[in-house]
Amino acid sequence: MHHFNYQAGELYCENVPVRRIAAKVGTPFYLYSAATLGHHYRVFEAAFHGFPHLVCFAVKANANLAILSLLARLGCGADIVSGGELHRALAAGVDPGRIVYSGVGKRGDEIRAALKAGILLFNMESSQELEEINRIAGHLRKKAPVALRINPDIDARTHPYISTGLKKNKFGINLEEALADYRRAQELPNLEVVGVACHIGSQITEISPFVEALERLKELIRRLQELGIGIRYLDLGGGLGIQYDQEEPPHPREYGSELLKHLQELDVTLILEPGRVLVGNAGILVTKVLYTKESEAKHFIIVDAGMNDLARPSLYGSYHGVCPVVQQSRPLVKASLVGPICESGDFLAKDRKLPAFRPGELVAVMSAGAYGFSMSSNYNARPRVAEILVQDGEFYVIRKRETYRQLTWGEAIPEFLK
Ligand code: LLP
Repeated sequence: MHHFNYQAGELYCENVPVRRIAAKVGTPFYLYSAATLGHHYRVFEAAFHGFPHLVCFAVKANANLAILSLLARLGCGADIVSGGELHRALAAGVDPGRIVYSGVGKRGDEIRAALKAGILLFNMESSQELEEINRIAGHLRKKAPVALRINPDIDARTHPYISTGLKKNKFGINLEEALADYRRAQELPNLEVVGVACHIGSQITEISPFVEALERLKELIRRLQELGIGIRYLDLGGGLGIQYDQEEPPHPREYGSELLKHLQELDVTLILEPGRVLVGNAGILVTKVLYTKESEAKHFIIVDAGMNDLARPSLYGSYHGVCPVVQQSRPLVKASLVGPICESGDFLAKDRKLPAFRPGELVAVMSAGAYGFSMSSNYNARPRVAEILVQDGEFYVIRKRETYRQLTWGEAIPEFLK
């Protein structure tokens, strides 16, 4: 469910016309609905009622301070993967006791900052990392709470770039090596072994891969118990998919109830790290048609947002719905929605049936709330776009459009060139 709907032929975000926002802030911009985000969080969280659990939003999906702060106020924690994400989560008011830190390449300074902040859990991804965190915790005279991120070797049946739970992926520790690593972790004086974690991939549209992963982790927990290693946290990662096009992902309620069925006998707190399912359909990218180009071979609709603003279509061939902000009677044509970037891979929609948009018209690229702005770049020296949040009939600029000055910030021309 989301709050981007047409009223009398015009696209609204909740009860604010998208056209009105565009007139005020210019294009392109990301637009989020607070009601949608809040609703998604509540539904997801409620799916696990009756079992001890903690929802930690995957900050990488959307790291805007206002988005993080909105979720934090609802009681949501954060799943972070860098010192920068730690900084953002803390700045947004996320309780450090609800932060989990994943990632294969945590640097010493990042580990130190997270230890000082007093986060809930470090998800360890290699035996070397265990030694490193033990060393740093020792210097700080702290005990680091750790889980080992297990690679359960599960095929999540999703795009290969976003599948992470297969042995051949770089993530986690293989099941066969896990017991040895747990034993080692248990010996290290500055670690407190508290959990088991996994994350098998993203945009997963079936429940069975999650259940398979859970079953493998349960077996591991049982064996750890035999070794006297008590596990308090079971972190199942994120990955639940959303509808972009024709997908039929399970409802979070089904996902929750199915997982809970398999968890009953366990005495743990369940941690979940959803990203996309919370924000994906809570945001759109609004752009304006600059030109159209029709030849025998092709019909291009050239807009002012490009692959630097929304990388998913060019990076993964992802589908995003394309809708007019103001409906007009336009025939459907086979066309591509492309940006101004100097790359043929710069498209937001390729060879699709689209309304024959005309220059000046506003276009909404749907389901862009997750991995949209957060993956945007300054390629082609394009300032990053503004982000807007609608709440209760008002809209708020939650990130200003970047300026040209910001583009060159920190750069210097050395003396010898002057
Ligand atoms: N936890 C960990 C350890 C992760 O690596 C990720 C995502 C998540 C949680 C959240 O996954 P989600 O619930 O959002 O599926 N850029 C890609 C997605 C990359 C996902 C990376 N890891 C995309 O645009 O589709």
